[in-house]
Amino acid sequence: MNILVIGSGGREHALCWAIARSPRLSKLYCTPGNGGITAIADCIALDVGDHDAVIRFARENDIGLVVVGPEAPLVDGLADSLDSTGIAVFGPSGAAAQLEGSKGFTKDLCAAHNIPTAAYARFTEATPALAYVRERGVPIVIKADGLAAGKGVTVAETLPQALEAVEACFAGTFGDAGAEVVVEDCMIGEEASFFALVDGETALPMATAQDHKRVGDGDQGPNTGGMGAYSPAPVMTPALCQRTMDEIIVPTVRAMAEAGTPYKGVLYAGLMITDEGPQLIEYNVRFGDPECQVLMLRLASDVVDALEATAKGTLAGVELVWRDEAALTVVMAARGYPGSYDKGSRICGLEDAAEPDNVEVFHAGTERRGDEIVAIGGRVLNVTALGETVGKAQAAAYGAVDAIDWSGGFCRRDIGYRAIAREMQDG
Ligand code: AMP
Ligand code: GLY
Repeated sequence: MNILVIGSGGREHALCWAIARSPRLSKLYCTPGNGGITAIADCIALDVGDHDAVIRFARENDIGLVVVGPEAPLVDGLADSLDSTGIAVFGPSGAAAQLEGSKGFTKDLCAAHNIPTAAYARFTEATPALAYVRERGVPIVIKADGLAAGKGVTVAETLPQALEAVEACFAGTFGDAGAEVVVEDCMIGEEASFFALVDGETALPMATAQDHKRVGDGDQGPNTGGMGAYSPAPVMTPALCQRTMDEIIVPTVRAMAEAGTPYKGVLYAGLMITDEGPQLIEYNVRFGDPECQVLMLRLASDVVDALEATAKGTLAGVELVWRDEAALTVVMAARGYPGSYDKGSRICGLEDAAEPDNVEVFHAGTERRGDEIVAIGGRVLNVTALGETVGKAQAAAYGAVDAIDWSGGFCRRDIGYRAIAREMQDG
């Protein structure tokens, strides 16, 4: 089968890497791809906003499955367009992608179906929103309703901070995404990510992971797209995974189907593990980045079978096999990220870094120029390793990081610290 992957990040490199290992693959295409993906896929330029162009490409190249990496083309209805022309696509319809595209939509769905999440209210005007914030008090969470590239959320510790966040949303800081605002109570606990494949009806749990959103060691500094991750997340015991399926994922899948907008794709639940159990922070309608990188390294089953069964509604009966090892990924970013950063610095030592069997270096913001790999983005590399424990995976990943010669880059040095503390405690 020929497969087209859409996207250019570490997530898409990891997906391409896993797909390329499948005996079912004939030819792999990726648009636009990156400097690492070019080694395993034919990277092509396609305007994914032009659905007819994507359909034409898929037809001309006999594409049997399109795998959409990021959320924006999904919210934009790319899966609907492909579906309507009979091209199999991994990813939800535009209507189902509202689970990520509108925080208010998801909160209303949770409220209607008793899915555990923080108490909330939705606003389209500043005055009542400010009054609600004053009434609830701090800490409180202010969210732009729409897609804001992960930047639309403020966890406010003080009242002035909360009021300012509301004003900023309505003043247009997040453009249209902030025209509506969700204000919700602050949940206390440890965060974890839970991934399930969903084919419209059947939900198949995949795995758990933990991300590190802040730019600096010890979770200091501004939020980023994610500076590292590991899987599984030890906080997610089998009992908590079961509760997440029963109380959150399955009711959501049922509600979406009943509403006539069945969900198809990977459903990524951001969870807060509170004293009362797992509560939903948010849904994403795609794999996490960098969580996908650790999931793909751990997955022992043929990923093409799983993606195709999800796309075609045949997940019932599919079983996923996972390696026993833990996986951990360290993001190397350009100095300055998540603020402004330089582009064009040269990266050396990548082959040495990826030499051990248990290490893979997935690229994000890179470009191949002749024989050289050059940094062209904020998050640039995902140095990913398997190990018997999170601690061993961490040691292998940082060993590989240290083999990379890139003066323009930096990384956190503490990825996995929570899990490793647990491992030490458990002896
Ligand atoms: P989101 O973009 O919705 O994932 O939110 C970004 C981050 O804000 C989350 O990963 C949490 O750390 C935090 N957050 C969002 N909503 C809440 C909440 N209701 N209570 C506590 N923290 C939250
Ligand atoms: N790593 C967080 C995300 O993909 O949303």
